[in-house]
Amino acid sequence: MQMQGCFARQNTRFFSFGVFVTFLGLLLSPDVQAQMTGNCANCHTMHNSQGGLAMTFDQNTTANDNLTRGTCLGCHAQGTDSSAIVVLGTSRIPQVYHDGGTDLAGGNFAYITGLKGGGASDRKGHNIAELTGSDGVLYGPPGGINQSFHDNGFIVNTNNLTCAGTNGCHGYRFAASSLPNGISGAHHKNVAGKMDLATEPANSYRFLMGVKGFEDADWEENAGSSTHNEYSALQAPVALGCSGGGGELSCHGGASGVQPPDGTMSQYCATCHGNFHTLETATSDGVGTVASSPFIRHPTDLALPSTGEYAAYTSYNIDTPIARTTGVPDASSAAVTPGTDAVMCLSCHVSHASDFPSMLRWDYSAMIADGGVGGTGCFVCHTTKD
Ligand code: HEC
Ligand code: HEC
Ligand code: HEC
Ligand code: HEC
Ligand code: HEC
Repeated sequence: MQMQGCFARQNTRFFSFGVFVTFLGLLLSPDVQAQMTGNCANCHTMHNSQGGLAMTFDQNTTANDNLTRGTCLGCHAQGTDSSAIVVLGTSRIPQVYHDGGTDLAGGNFAYITGLKGGGASDRKGHNIAELTGSDGVLYGPPGGINQSFHDNGFIVNTNNLTCAGTNGCHGYRFAASSLPNGISGAHHKNVAGKMDLATEPANSYRFLMGVKGFEDADWEENAGSSTHNEYSALQAPVALGCSGGGGELSCHGGASGVQPPDGTMSQYCATCHGNFHTLETATSDGVGTVASSPFIRHPTDLALPSTGEYAAYTSYNIDTPIARTTGVPDASSAAVTPGTDAVMCLSCHVSHASDFPSMLRWDYSAMIADGGVGGTGCFVCHTTKD
């Protein structure tokens, strides 16, 4: 069904089939825009050669996996003079490194290099070595999950952190030579809108294997209180471990590699930053996590209390998002319901990079008790502290 554009353009015999498929798509899919459409040659090159010249977007003579005309970065990190969504034929490519327009939901790696924003800093986000250079301050992930092989040597570190695959975030995250990027096949099968299966990258939220959520059709380029991504969370967090058992849930989901056991965004971050997901014990493998104050780290995967200052957060603020604990919604909603909606890592952080230290969504130095601006940052939930 994703191929209708190509069929319709290249072969009139298939035109009515293409129209039928489009119609079917309208019926079945809440968002027909988010598909790979258009001529194969827009994105693929059979030999990386035409008239003797390289066919990759950067004229690179190295041929890419799946015969694509770019690497992940060639298509998604086009840099200078590019807007947040680049149009290629009839497809739209979301950009993660660019100097124009409104950033998409993940933020923009350009803040790390200074291509955009108030100056270069490795502290503004996840450094991807081949794009931003390694992080000069952080080697392993702070709060690295406390398990054998994870906490000292740091399997994932700033020198090897990458887009997808074994040391990446998108796609299957394990060593499998048949899946060089852990993502092959996901683009053409990409499911849009409500992502409540998460059984493979294509039906997981933004190809993040095992993560559930609702995908905004424009990757939040035009976000508003009722037009945004939706995230999944738990009422109270669970302890994470290697193999499950003993009260822990496993991050190694069988043959699927590393993934969050309950599909929540905070568990997903915790597959690398495990200890920061743990509220009352020192380490991520602490069994018997009780989710009540006093906490030793800021809670995530915990519902906002329906009483006290939290009860006043009732209207969705896209600069301080919450996650849903009652299942993945069919559409984005402007309502926030204390008691069921939860705080998550992305309430305070973006996922790629922001213009603020620790890749926060807002300037933490502007959060001043009894003197700060209400309705922003911490004050969106801690409504009485401004
Ligand atoms: C808008 C860009 C785009 C267009 C148009 C496109 N592809 Fe792809 N295709 C990709 C990307 C990116 C990948 C590699 C990543 C992946 O598989 O998720 C891919 C992977 C593939 C694969 C290997 C994985 C799989 O899904 O089987 C095949 C085969 C393929 N494309 C065939 C085609 C054919 C044939 C056409 C034209 C009818 C086409 N593609 C049009 C972007 C595109
Ligand atoms: C030939 C260009 C091309 C290449 C190469 C490519 N992509 Fe994409 N990618 C696209 C397009 C086009 C879309 C939009 C698809 C849609 O709207 O459904 C996309 C969408 C995505 C998305 C968002 C999916 C969603 O649910 O909205 C992610 C994540 C992504 N790509 C990751 C990658 C990674 C990781 C790689 C490298 C392994 C890669 N892409 C390589 C063209 C490309
Ligand atoms: C695949 C492993 C991995 C995953 C998944 C991951 N991180 Fe990280 N994170 C790292 C590594 C490695 C570093 C240190 C290197 C760096 O900052 O470039 C890091 C650094 C950070 C930093 C500090 C950035 C700075 O430079 O100050 C923050 C904040 C952060 N991560 C938050 C998150 C959040 C939020 C998520 C989930 C959306 C997440 N991480 C998911 C590996 C990961
Ligand atoms: C999305 C909502 C949200 C945001 C944004 C938020 N918090 Fe919280 N915070 C909570 C919730 C929920 C709790 C736990 C309340 C409970 O169950 O007692 C909490 C608890 C706390 C606690 C008390 C921990 C304890 O042991 O009782 C502190 C301190 C705190 N937050 C500080 C901050 C600061 C500083 C910021 C901004 C950097 C911030 N919070 C942003 C939701 C939020
Ligand atoms: C309530 C807001 C809030 C939430 C929720 C939150 N963080 Fe943070 N995080 C911060 C702030 C603020 C900082 C800056 C350091 C500080 O002042 O504590 C930070 C710093 C970090 C750092 C950098 C630590 C360092 O050593 O430099 C990492 C990594 C990180 N957070 C990961 C996470 C992960 C993973 C989650 C979810 C499990 C999460 N954060 C949830 C507010 C939050």
